Amino acid sequence: MRRILVTGQGGQLATGLAESLPAAGFEALLVGQPDFEFDNPETVRAAFASLKPDAVVNCAAWTAVDAAEDDEAGAFRANALGPALLGALSAEAGIPLIQISTDYVYDGLKGAPYREDDLPNPRSTYGRTKLAGEWAALAANPQTVVMRTAWVFSPVGKNFVKTMLALGASRPELKVVADQWGHPTAAPDLADAIAGVLARVRETGWREDYRGVFHAVAAGGTNWHAFAEAIFAASGGPVPKVLPITTPEYPTKATRPVDGRLETAKLAGVFGVVLPSWQDGLARVMATLKAG
Ligand SMILES: NC(=O)c1ccc[n+]([C@@H]2O[C@H](COP(=O)([O-])OP(=O)(O)OC[C@H]3O[C@@H](n4cnc5c(N)ncnc54)[C@H](OP(=O)(O)O)[C@@H]3O)[C@@H](O)[C@H]2O)c1
Repeated sequence: MRRILVTGQGGQLATGLAESLPAAGFEALLVGQPDFEFDNPETVRAAFASLKPDAVVNCAAWTAVDAAEDDEAGAFRANALGPALLGALSAEAGIPLIQISTDYVYDGLKGAPYREDDLPNPRSTYGRTKLAGEWAALAANPQTVVMRTAWVFSPVGKNFVKTMLALGASRPELKVVADQWGHPTAAPDLADAIAGVLARVRETGWREDYRGVFHAVAAGGTNWHAFAEAIFAASGGPVPKVLPITTPEYPTKATRPVDGRLETAKLAGVFGVVLPSWQDGLARVMATLKAG
């Protein structure tokens, strides 16, 4: 197993995989829009036929959570029909599919970290369409690993870290939600974890217990306000005052889980993969941002 098809080229996670996969001895075959477009399934079939991968990591998704509320059909095509097609093509080729998913499949009301066998109950269009994508991939290809991640940030693309740094450079005071909990996860760390999963599959061959859902987030949980303060502390730049606010004080179109913390013991037990702490992930991404 060597050639890994990575969808969503240019996105946060695919960019991480462009480094992590070669470092683990894989060849990363990155595909992205407009050449690879779920809304045009022929492009997906063509990528498969020409690249002949040994495994697929699907990072492509409609990730604009609030905008999805206004175009459920569009989000469904990308987040559910896309994985369904990749599931069918990878099953036909007899190769594994890693489908990336989200903590937004949960309602966040459990009051404790979720386990993979807890019932999902998405409260947003994004969460519903991503859950449909998990089911479609798992139903189509018995060799499917679903990795649910959260609060992804990276040196590239749009994310909370970059937004905070931009706002902090121009405002003396910011208000940030302090009552939503989760795991800020550095895309380079998640990419390393995915490479670790693939390396285990390469080593052992496919095993029945690889099939299913796994939580893949940074160790340790926090809230957006505390995360913002950590970002400014690590930035070496201007440090604005960060005022804690509640979710109702920052209304958004899509409802987010209040407490999306996830247990990760299953990923460690089955694949031997553990992600670093979110603080270490922040330091890693910040170092790249400062170097760039
Ligand atoms: N970002 C987060 O906080 C977060 C949290 C939990 C889970 N996840 C999941 O993690 C995975 C990776 O996320 P990310 O942060 O790397 O996302 P990202 O930076 O937004 O990248 C998504 C990629 O998907 C591509 N894409 C969007 N619609 C497409 C379509 N219809 N056909 C083909 N490609 C399409 C985008 O292309 P364009 O750039 O050309 O639009 C982009 O390259 C996704 O499955 C996401 O749902 C993300």
